[in-house]
Amino acid sequence: MIPLDLSGKLAEVAGVGDDRGFAWHIAKALNAAGARLVFATHPRLVNVVGNILERDLDKESRALPYGAGELKVDKVLPCDVSYDTMADVDEKTLNDKRFSKHGDYSIQGLVSSISKDYQGVDIFVHSIAFSPEIKNRAIDTTRRAYLTALSVSSYSLTAMLKALQPLMENRPGGASAIALSYLGGDRVVPHYGGGMSTAKAALQIDAKQLASNLGPKNIRVNIISAGPYASRAASAIGDIDEMVNHAAACSPLPRAISPDEVANTAAFLCSPLASAITGHVLYVDCGYNVMGIFPKG
Ligand SMILES: NC(=O)c1ccc[n+]([C@@H]2O[C@H](COP(=O)([O-])OP(=O)(O)OC[C@H]3O[C@@H](n4cnc5c(N)ncnc54)[C@H](O)[C@@H]3O)[C@@H](O)[C@H]2O)c1
Repeated sequence: MIPLDLSGKLAEVAGVGDDRGFAWHIAKALNAAGARLVFATHPRLVNVVGNILERDLDKESRALPYGAGELKVDKVLPCDVSYDTMADVDEKTLNDKRFSKHGDYSIQGLVSSISKDYQGVDIFVHSIAFSPEIKNRAIDTTRRAYLTALSVSSYSLTAMLKALQPLMENRPGGASAIALSYLGGDRVVPHYGGGMSTAKAALQIDAKQLASNLGPKNIRVNIISAGPYASRAASAIGDIDEMVNHAAACSPLPRAISPDEVANTAAFLCSPLASAITGHVLYVDCGYNVMGIFPKG
């Protein structure tokens, strides 16, 4: 049997905000394969995630795939990826109690917390995206929203890998990072606006650059381009159900994707089975991206 064994590995999973999103499912797959987990969660959602990890009500959500038991997370650390250090935080956020109660919630704060307790990080998952104007078409997007989308959804991958590099370099068997993209970074998807298309295009080329920069340190960087799925963030797009139904009707595999399929791909890419794969964009979309003309129906 080919093993997919991540035991002894530490995975830093950024972007778990509930038990619906891709990050939650990826975390469960990595945990089922034996990896230990540290979450980096938006400061306003740390308590929400903490509750899901503890409440009896959410026991079913914590069940690992493959009968591997129940999800166990070492720590849920606060991180707003807009900020490299606390010196970058604006006055309004500094005075917001929902943030200030966490102390240092910058990327630097996250990495120094991890360094205190762990010798290294073997796996990094970036599952984060935000635009304040996701519903605005490109032509109607403000400069402010466009730059926010790029800062939170794209540059944060570079910023986090830069900060994590000392913990990820030259790990036994190498380290692996993955980030989540969407076809809207390659082609026009109506309503995927507010700078998000640009942010995904940037994320994809950044991942290739980072793969080249970090390859000599034995750190692989890959992208999963997932098909549409009604997570919390995607529901903000407005027509996510229409996007899911359209993809299901028109893909070579004529159905919607499941978040577990994205999670299984993430586990593979983070495992030694993918040891020669880096700088790659892997579509987990039932083949939708290959279509030129869509079938009627
Ligand atoms: N759902 C889809 O249809 C779809 C398809 C392809 C790719 N993706 C991508 O998958 C990734 C995860 O999205 P999801 O659909 O699972 O939704 P989600 O809402 O579960 O995840 C988005 C996460 O980003 C976090 N976030 C936003 N701004 C942040 C900030 N400043 N600092 C820290 N965290 C912040 C949110 O708290 C949330 O946990 C995103 O990159 C998204 O673009 C989603």
